[in-house]
Amino acid sequence: MSPTTVLITGATDGLGRWLALRLATSGVGVVLHGRNPARLDETAREIRAEGGREPLGVVRADLADLGQVDRLADEVLARFPGLDVLVNNAAVGFGEPGAGRELSADGIELRFAVNYLAGYHLTRRLLPALQKAAPARIVNVTSVGQAPIDFADPMLDHGYDGYRAYRQSKLAQIMFTIDVAEELRGTGVTANALHPATLMATSMVREAELTPLSTLHDGGEATLRLIADPALAEVSGVYFDQTMEATPKPQALDPAARRQLRELSDALVERALAARR
Ligand SMILES: NC(=O)c1ccc[n+]([C@@H]2O[C@H](COP(=O)([O-])OP(=O)(O)OC[C@H]3O[C@@H](n4cnc5c(N)ncnc54)[C@H](OP(=O)(O)O)[C@@H]3O)[C@@H](O)[C@H]2O)c1
Repeated sequence: MSPTTVLITGATDGLGRWLALRLATSGVGVVLHGRNPARLDETAREIRAEGGREPLGVVRADLADLGQVDRLADEVLARFPGLDVLVNNAAVGFGEPGAGRELSADGIELRFAVNYLAGYHLTRRLLPALQKAAPARIVNVTSVGQAPIDFADPMLDHGYDGYRAYRQSKLAQIMFTIDVAEELRGTGVTANALHPATLMATSMVREAELTPLSTLHDGGEATLRLIADPALAEVSGVYFDQTMEATPKPQALDPAARRQLRELSDALVERALAARR
């Protein structure tokens, strides 16, 4: 597979920016997503400076606002009706040591909102563009750090901890990957998730005051494999720890838990969008 149109969320820093640069310098058409125009310009300038292919487009949305996610989907569907690959990469990390709970613009726990729910809604809205371009791929960048969702307190009103918030959002991404892969079986659109690498030297790792253990190159190469390796053309619904097929935390394999997550997600999206109408 040689993708022609790849949308990368969070292309303004860390892994997303590395992927955008690497794909563009290989001649792939990238659509850069970010929330900050200056940082998007910086990424595009870096691509030009490295002699990469001019990005196909730049799209803006704060993923902590489902109204903006919805408008982002409208814009992508209008400008890029055929999308080969969607990389759901943007995320918020553990936060600074001891940092408290934060909410999205819609009043949803921030890491659940940005890391999982934004990608859930964006992906669902972009399915027509992916199906049109089939064979196409959804790549969800998640983590080996996973925690089960307590459906009695999914927004972590009680006993908040940044690690737990991040980890439950990452398991939710894997649960969604398994579900959407099943739903898309036979359409030519695959969905896979991966842990790119452990503690890459990026902003979220620096913010949490953790010591980097891997490079962007390590995580980038593993992610590129899911984006473009022809050997994975038929592989779908799989979680990879870098390049190795791996087993996620048990809740991801429980169909009842996945259904509960789907129902919660649809209700949260519906409520947020209704409040903005
Ligand atoms: N770093 C690691 O060791 C590691 C390990 C396992 C998994 N991962 C996963 O790898 C992915 C990339 O992480 P990274 O380390 O490259 O992170 P990073 O350098 O901190 O970059 C995060 C990206 O997400 C964007 N973003 C954050 N909040 C956003 C919002 N509300 N709306 C729109 N964009 C937003 C940021 O935009 P700005 O530029 O505007 O801030 C930035 O482009 C994440 O999914 C992460 O969970 C990372």
